[in-house]
Amino acid sequence: MNNSISKILERKLKTNEIGQNIIFYDITDSTNNEAKRHSNLKSGTLIIADDQTDGKGRLGRVWKSNSGDEILMSLLLKPSVSPDEVSKITLIAGLSVCKALRNFGAKIKWPNDVIINSKKVAGVLTEMSAELNKINYIVCGIGININTTEFEEELFNKATSLYLTSGKKYDRSDILEKVLYEFESLYFEFLENGLNNILSEYKANCINLGAIAKAVFKDKTIIGKVVDINTDGELILETDNGKITISSGEVSVRGILGYV
Ligand code: BTN
Repeated sequence: MNNSISKILERKLKTNEIGQNIIFYDITDSTNNEAKRHSNLKSGTLIIADDQTDGKGRLGRVWKSNSGDEILMSLLLKPSVSPDEVSKITLIAGLSVCKALRNFGAKIKWPNDVIINSKKVAGVLTEMSAELNKINYIVCGIGININTTEFEEELFNKATSLYLTSGKKYDRSDILEKVLYEFESLYFEFLENGLNNILSEYKANCINLGAIAKAVFKDKTIIGKVVDINTDGELILETDNGKITISSGEVSVRGILGYV
């Protein structure tokens, strides 16, 4: 993807607001950092890069990339919602990627990992600047492995790309256009009605529902059956000690035997 991606994408875009303003980098530290540095720009601004030197994942992890093989993107958003609604927007981001990749059989691992054949193909890192009751801006960062041909040993059993699952290479602007289209429709639905009309679609695509899961917190691990996801986007685990509600923040949810 070189700078012409902005031009190609502009021609393909079917959105009204999301991605209508695009900033492209050959390489930057992190598109999330760039979005924060451009937080004066309008809501819906899309920052994309071919490579990152300091890509960030959830829970303080590193997000590695190979120049030009992935979609590395961040959306700057300025919704009029309270800060505690933001975790729901990360669910929507995961669902929009999942819908854009529906032809590949993509599913969601709560809260927002996108999975194909039990391996992670995309992840979402949402950051925000807020005051007590007011959001200044949200940065919704999404990484999607498109044409990645191999992963290092530690990711080998956990990560995949569209290329590795299908044997074909893809034009990243085609996938990006679909993600932005799906995101826009879910985002504006969310701003009007919250998760009410989105939750059933999220649940239908969520691989955790009905499965035994391990919720790994900093200081403890809880095992239980995933029995529901509520309208706040929280996971309901049925454990030996009763039901517990888990919100997405500082937790990683895994299968009992491995990643999924
Ligand atoms: C995760 O699953 O841990 C979240 C990964 C998010 C990675 C993307 S790549 C584009 C954006 N910039 C970053 O530094 N991180 C996000």
